[in-house]
Amino acid sequence: MPDTSPKRVAVVGPGALGCLLATTLCRIRGDIWVLDHDSQRAALLQYSGLTLERAGRIEHFPIQATADAQEIGPVALVLLCVKSPALGQTLPSLLPLLTKNTLLFAWQNGIGHLPVLAGAELPCAVALAVTSLGAHLVGPGRVRFGGAGATSLGFLDEASLEAQLALQEAAELFRVAGLEVRVEADILAQVWNKLLVNVGINALTALHNCENGALLENGEALALMRAAVLEAASVAQAKGIAIAPEPVARTIAVCQATAGNISSMLQDVRGNRRTEIEAINGAVLEEARRLGIPAPVNAELFAAVKALEKKYLPG
Ligand code: PAF
Repeated sequence: MPDTSPKRVAVVGPGALGCLLATTLCRIRGDIWVLDHDSQRAALLQYSGLTLERAGRIEHFPIQATADAQEIGPVALVLLCVKSPALGQTLPSLLPLLTKNTLLFAWQNGIGHLPVLAGAELPCAVALAVTSLGAHLVGPGRVRFGGAGATSLGFLDEASLEAQLALQEAAELFRVAGLEVRVEADILAQVWNKLLVNVGINALTALHNCENGALLENGEALALMRAAVLEAASVAQAKGIAIAPEPVARTIAVCQATAGNISSMLQDVRGNRRTEIEAINGAVLEEARRLGIPAPVNAELFAAVKALEKKYLPG
């Protein structure tokens, strides 16, 4: 097999997606690092490695893990998998990893990360990754595969030839590792296509404390799902974003395909963590207000999840 892959990779944030990507790459590459802001957990991962549960099989992967980016040093590829609310505080800590030849992929849900990335002065090229891979963090460094799904990669802004080649090389690395990858000219449309699905599923599963599939059996939840997605689709259309047709049907199809999944937002609520509500329904609401488009259902879901978070977040 030709070695087309970048030399050194750092996966930032060992949550469900970060652990899934790290184990996927460990299968084919040796020099994979995990960077974690939590030094105790980093030490645990360095000692015990990562574990992948997939289709009844349990696989174990030794990993290099640290809380100190200096220990890793410059890498070819950064997979930035921290949740949207943690992005702003994470970016400055990545500087030791980054050179002008590094390519950083941001894998966040929603659209809250876009202004943060645009405002960050990073010395490297920044691309977006939009994925429908399913993953569930069972414990520190232990991830359960939640379903295959395509991953789209692309640049929001014009990129240099070197950066475009690096993105093609990274796409090939992911394909060799077994992921279904597409390089997209219009990545913003993919970001919004996924946003619409998250708008319809995540808050409702968090509020009903249910698996994705259960929303389809709840008439009231289903009506809110439809309304929230249609509101967000109107916002996308008003912004001139080329979203795919039938967003409600696509959201329902994702619910069916991931029926047994615990959504990332419900995983956050169950783990007493800050959710991505601001980057998902909250961001739609903000755009809707700016454009003068009514979005009462997104407002209702936003307020309800904020009230839920308030019960367990300090302050
Ligand atoms: O955020 C999530 O959990 C996922 O994007 C999705 C598609 C809703 C499946 O659980």
